[in-house]
Amino acid sequence: MDKIISLCKRRGFVFLSSEIYGGFGSCYDFGPLGAEMKRNIKQLWWDEMTKKQDNIVGIDASILMSPKVWQASGHLTAGFADELVECRKCHKRFKLDELQKNICPECGGGLTKPKKFNLMMKTFVGPVEDDSSIAYLRPETCQGIYVNFLNVMNSMRLKPPFGIAQIGKAFRNEITPGNFIFRVREFEQMEMQWFSPPATLRKRSVAMRAGNPKDAKTPDDWFEYWKEQRMNWYIDLGIKKENLRAIEIPRKDRAHYAKRQIDIEYKFPFGWKEIEGVHNRGDYDLSNHTKHSKEELKYFNPDTKEKYTPYVIETSVGVGRSALAFLCEAYSEIKGGRTETTKSVKEVEAVLNLDKRLSPVKIAVFPLVKNKPDLVKKAKEVYQLLKFKFVCQYDEVGSIGRRYRRQDEIGTPFCLTIDFETLENDDLTVRDRITMKQQRIKVKDLKDFFQNKFRNDRG
Ligand code: GAP
Repeated sequence: MDKIISLCKRRGFVFLSSEIYGGFGSCYDFGPLGAEMKRNIKQLWWDEMTKKQDNIVGIDASILMSPKVWQASGHLTAGFADELVECRKCHKRFKLDELQKNICPECGGGLTKPKKFNLMMKTFVGPVEDDSSIAYLRPETCQGIYVNFLNVMNSMRLKPPFGIAQIGKAFRNEITPGNFIFRVREFEQMEMQWFSPPATLRKRSVAMRAGNPKDAKTPDDWFEYWKEQRMNWYIDLGIKKENLRAIEIPRKDRAHYAKRQIDIEYKFPFGWKEIEGVHNRGDYDLSNHTKHSKEELKYFNPDTKEKYTPYVIETSVGVGRSALAFLCEAYSEIKGGRTETTKSVKEVEAVLNLDKRLSPVKIAVFPLVKNKPDLVKKAKEVYQLLKFKFVCQYDEVGSIGRRYRRQDEIGTPFCLTIDFETLENDDLTVRDRITMKQQRIKVKDLKDFFQNKFRNDRG
């Protein structure tokens, strides 16, 4: 893990927030490469949900919402609190469910009785700071979806089953943040809420719409469907099957809204940990918002004349947490080096075997040497030609082998070298990180060549 953290800092993936002031509250900043990688993850998820899947639309709700939302959702009550104990000796605080023994894991001191600690982040809206102006930073993005249920369904003329997807920031005053960007207090979530008729309506809707198997599915069937879809998403993006598992969460450990919950876990260097939750939230949220807001969050089926509260199946993943899983999966070390000029050197070469859809930099462009103006000019032309379409890096510093190594370390799939032949034949060498194969491609064909390479195929 230390090596991955060090690579993340050295190569501009992740920095400690407010680092020059010693950091702040377990917050992290994504640097240039981390920001690109996160954008890729979000785009892939968005495309998966709103393009590949049927009947899902996206929204972008505000972070600040009426405090009444959090009363209705259960987040201001016992539902969204961790049990906290404090060491009487060193005064460190721990989550009760993370402790192995009844003594402080840091100093062996005695512990206080557990107290409920709410994870909501508070702020004030408007110029007066009193109880009436208290607002909260959302701890999950999905509440913005539930309160917009009618707006979205009506404006888009949707009928259950349909989904609403959203990507956005969430905040939790975590007691024990840690493991780098795994558990932090400010993070981004990618959540999709799937609204389907409750099982009791199944027979009638099947009869009404005979021949459409989609309508025959119950919320429990959809739960299985989404669990599988989400597992496959990680596998398709390069996570090995043996490093991924779905764990059924027993009732006592489930989130307060969940009738059923599975955690998709990844085998991190620090152990198996959740990267995504799939929840059957039943009618918990829509019913509670109906009760509190007095707005009926229901669907009326004009064919059967039935009015009902759809059941919600939710998929919920953190962008940073999934980025960490992809980075851990991709990190490898090759003794003696793999690149052309380091094979004989007794060094360890770090390589990020990222799927090319996730790679922050897609193409690196090198002139063979930097002291030949014609080569440099041509390389810069090639860089300009590609950089509007693909994230490119231009590099002329050090030997070609060193430059390959720098790109291998950040997972760049393709490196282009402009050499003396380029000046004569207008072609250049394309080196593929995964196959290590090199081939010559005409400069005029480069755009098409890469467009094909990046056309939504596997890494
Ligand atoms: N709306 C459901 C929900 O929020 P959750 O299991 O509390 O469910 C879902 O969170 C996902 O959000 C987690 O699997 C994780 O990927 C991410 N997440 C939650 N808390 C996080 C934190 N403190 N830091 C980073 N990611 C977090």
